[in-house]
Amino acid sequence: MNGGDGNARVAPAAIARISVVISGRGSNLQALLDAERRGELAGSVTHVLSNRPGAAGLALARERGVATSVVDHTAFASRDAFDGALAAEIDRGEPDLVVLAGFMRVLGAGFVLHYTGRMINIHPSLLPAYAGLHTHRRALADRVREHGCSVHFVTPDVDGGPLILQGRVEVRDDDDEAALAARVLAVEHRILPQAVNLYCEGRLRLSSGRVETLAPMR
Ligand code: GRF
Repeated sequence: MNGGDGNARVAPAAIARISVVISGRGSNLQALLDAERRGELAGSVTHVLSNRPGAAGLALARERGVATSVVDHTAFASRDAFDGALAAEIDRGEPDLVVLAGFMRVLGAGFVLHYTGRMINIHPSLLPAYAGLHTHRRALADRVREHGCSVHFVTPDVDGGPLILQGRVEVRDDDDEAALAARVLAVEHRILPQAVNLYCEGRLRLSSGRVETLAPMR
C-alpha cells in the first residue's frame, strides 16, 4: 500500500495527443476521427492544421469539435519561414504524434528532424515504388499488377522514411486513375488508423532508423 491512505492506485496513462496536418479533402483525417469515435484509437485527435484555409478537412474537424489552425504557405516568403511557423503552431498543441494526412508540401530537413520518430505520413503507393506525385497514373502507365499505400515515419528523404504498414490492391485491366485511386484510398483509411493506434499504444518505435513493432501488452 502506498502512503497508507487506503486509496493508492496506478495513475492512468495519459491519452496520446495526435495532431493531423492536411491540405485538402481530409478523408484520412475522417478515418482517424471515426476510429477514435468507435474506440479503436488509443489516442485522441486534438489538433488539425492545414496550409490551405479552404481545406474541407478543416470544416470536418470543427464539426467534430477539434481545434484547428491554418498556416497559409502563401503568406511566407520562404519555405524555412513557413516550416518555422508550422512547427511553432504544431508544438503549441503539444502532440505526442504528428500525422501528415494528405499534406501536399515538402518539408525541410530542419522541420522533419525536429519530429524524428514522432511524425508519420500516408502515401498512396507501395513505397519505395512511386514516391512523389501522380502515383496511380504512373502505376497504370507501367501496367503493374499490384499497387497500394504505405504509412511510414517521416525522414528528410521525401517519401523514403522507414515503413510501418502497407496495404495492397490488385490493379484491374479496366482500371482508370479514379477507380484505382478510390480502391487505394479505402485501404489508406484502414491502415492509417491502425498505424496511429500502434504508435499510441506504445508499440511502434523508430530505433536506429528502423521500425520496431512490439507485441501487445498482456
Ligand atoms: C491521399 O491519397 C494521401 O495518401 C495523399 O493525398 C490524399 C489525401 O486524401 N497523400 P485526403 O485529404 O485524406 O482525403
